[in-house]
Amino acid sequence: MRMLSVENLDVFHGDAQALDGVSLDIEEGAIVAIVGANGAGKTSLIRTIAGMHRPKRGRILYRGLDIAGWPSHKVCDLGIGQVAEGRQVFPSLSVAENLSMGAMLPRARAERERNLEKAYALFPALAERRHQAAGTLSGGEQQMLSIGRCLMGAPELVMFDEPSLGLAPTIVQSVLKTVRDLNREGLTCVLVEQNVAVSLKLASRAYVLENGRITLSGSGEALLSDDRVRQAYLGL
Ligand SMILES: Nc1ncnc2c1ncn2[C@@H]1O[C@H](COP(=O)(O)OP(=O)(O)O)[C@@H](O)[C@H]1O
Ligand SMILES: [Mg+2]
Repeated sequence: MRMLSVENLDVFHGDAQALDGVSLDIEEGAIVAIVGANGAGKTSLIRTIAGMHRPKRGRILYRGLDIAGWPSHKVCDLGIGQVAEGRQVFPSLSVAENLSMGAMLPRARAERERNLEKAYALFPALAERRHQAAGTLSGGEQQMLSIGRCLMGAPELVMFDEPSLGLAPTIVQSVLKTVRDLNREGLTCVLVEQNVAVSLKLASRAYVLENGRITLSGSGEALLSDDRVRQAYLGL
C-alpha cells in the first residue's frame, strides 16, 4: 500500500530553486533510497516533507491526506519522523532528557515509558550513559541518540538524512544495520546515504536526484547495476 506520494514538488530557497517537479512514491514497509550529489536537493526534499519548508507547488500525500505546507509539529504527530543531517542532539541535556524530548508529541506521550525501554534495548550504550550529557557522547553514540529520539515519537515513517556521515567505518555498518532492522520490524524508511552501494542494496526502491530533479528511478537492484549510477555514484 502506498504510504506517501510526492507529486510535482517545487521548492525554492529565496530565488534559488532546490526542487523542480519532484514526484516519488513510498510504499508502506519499504526502504526508499534517495541518491544524489551534494547540493542535489536531498535535504530540501526531506525537510519539505517534514514541514520545515513550504513548497511553492505540488502535493505531499500521506495516506491520501495532502500535508504540503503543514507545520512540522503536525507532520510529526501524523507519524512522520526524521533523523536530521548532522545529528543535532541537545549537548547539555542528558541522554534521557534528549530521548524524552522525542516523546512530547501527543501521539507518543502515552507510550513514553514503553518506547524509552525499547530505545534502551535497541541501543544499550545509551542505557549505560542515560545520565551523561549528550555532548560527551561519541559521534556514533550521538547518532544512536538522534535515532532513539526520533523513535520516541512513535513514527511510522522515518527519513534518515546521511545517518553515517562522519562516522568511523565500523559505526557506519552498525547504523545501517539499525536502519535495516527497524525496517524489518515494520518501519517504513527513506534513506539518504553517502554510502550509495549499501543504500541501494537495502532499498526496495530508489530515486536519483540531480539538480533538484528526479532523473532515474527503479528497484535498488536495478539502479545498482545501471551504468549511469555506477559511473556517477559508485566510481565504477
Ligand atoms: N536554507 C537554504 N537557503 C538557501 N539555499 C539553500 C538552503 N538550503 C539548501 N540550499 C541550496 O539548495 C540546494 C539543495 O541543497 P540540499 O537540499 O541541502 O542538497 P543535498 O542535501 O542534496 O546536499 C543547494 O544548492 C543548496 O545550496
Ligand atoms: Mg543534505
